[in-house]
Amino acid sequence: MENKKERSTFGGSLGFILAAAGSAVGLGNIWRFPYLAAKDGGGVFLLCYLILALTFGFALLTSEIAIGRKTGQSPLTAYKVMNKNWGWTGILACVIPTIILPYYCVIGGWILKYLADFVTGNAAAAVEASHFTGFITAQWSPILWFVVFLAATVFIVYKGVNNGIEKFSTVLMPILVLLIIGIAAFSLTLSHSDDAGVTRTGLEGLKVYLIPNFEGMTFSKLLRVVIDAMSQLFYSISVAMGIMVAYGSYVKKDVNLVKSVNRIEFFDTLVAFLAGMMIIPAVFTFMGSEGLAASGPSLMFISLPKVFNAMGVIGPFIGILFFLMVTFAALTSSVSLMEAVVASFMDKFHYERKKSTVIVSVISLLVGIVVCLGYNLLYFDLTLPNGSVGQVLDILDYVSNYVLMPVVAIATCILIGWVCGPKSILDEITLGGIKFSRKALYVFMVKFATPAMLFLLLLQSFGIIK
Ligand code: PHE
Repeated sequence: MENKKERSTFGGSLGFILAAAGSAVGLGNIWRFPYLAAKDGGGVFLLCYLILALTFGFALLTSEIAIGRKTGQSPLTAYKVMNKNWGWTGILACVIPTIILPYYCVIGGWILKYLADFVTGNAAAAVEASHFTGFITAQWSPILWFVVFLAATVFIVYKGVNNGIEKFSTVLMPILVLLIIGIAAFSLTLSHSDDAGVTRTGLEGLKVYLIPNFEGMTFSKLLRVVIDAMSQLFYSISVAMGIMVAYGSYVKKDVNLVKSVNRIEFFDTLVAFLAGMMIIPAVFTFMGSEGLAASGPSLMFISLPKVFNAMGVIGPFIGILFFLMVTFAALTSSVSLMEAVVASFMDKFHYERKKSTVIVSVISLLVGIVVCLGYNLLYFDLTLPNGSVGQVLDILDYVSNYVLMPVVAIATCILIGWVCGPKSILDEITLGGIKFSRKALYVFMVKFATPAMLFLLLLQSFGIIK
């Protein structure tokens, strides 16, 4: 390999697992998973998700981490090392985090703003829906908060693999889990009577979440549930954006990749599951079933502040804990996005970490400002091929998540399944005599099932299947 200097490595497998889990656990776990679970028949969705995690997710995650460790390269150069004709996949895998990072940090800025609102006792103002729209359409304030969030990300990445990413993940992830367990437990104790005298409790909300609801479940509805679970899982485990390749390249050869993949997926699924236990009972108690129809920004920045407000005196305190937890989740994800690009520039152009970080920061700063202005000076409405209407942020999200990511993931499966052959990955995984009992499953998934399923996602992105 051209890189003469020794490559940084994660100190141990725990550091790697927490860093990768930190990437995987993000806004998707908190604002999309619970909503999908509530919409898609509770336990039915959870079951589909679990099965997919053990098959589809397992194949993708294993492949990417192994590509990283095998080549010792970050995405921009790793794919080319696997096969000299596949460098284009690496370029795409590096373009994706470059696109996502700026808008992810813009949303990170919104979270910081709400955290600040709750900390400064401004929680009451945050209850109004107009507070959110007023904030994101303002000219300067969103840019300011975006810059603060970006700066925190840059700080961690700049400090490097051990002193930055690994160290922060090992501190932030356990705190995040404690916070989410605490809030979820509190959520279950809630009870509230509405104006019509109807009393709802957190425990009833828990039933909506956990008990499979087969009412009106037809074959086509079940297919919808499976596709929802698959697209959620795909986004949630942070594959197809070069991240797991970059993180894999920092893993020592004696780490058991099979165990690591299991633990990363377990962690990610656990946090998503707990997020549902935290959000569904709380929203159900105070807003009823209709409240459960919100996801994304409107769940986090409109519905939940209303719920915190309805909790009475303890509400603002729960709000602080919640937004702190979300800040940690988003920060470890944005760090991983930035690292995928920074490491790529380091490997490809032989830049020092400092230079590479500065370049990526400047690109993100400029694009992020355009994203912020997308709600103000540069406002327009554009209907995307999948039917949603959006601004700059939604366009970047569409191009990266819905188009480029499935393409990169399909290309990865073809590269591994058919061009290099699954053996190239199996050899890496079983290095040092490590047992891999799901070999046959892996080969079947990577060659046939996973690319076919990803193709479905792509068709959905183009609006060909609804
Ligand atoms: N996996 C993250 C989530 O579930 C998504 C993500 C990760 C986005 C890394 C960007 C970067 O929210």
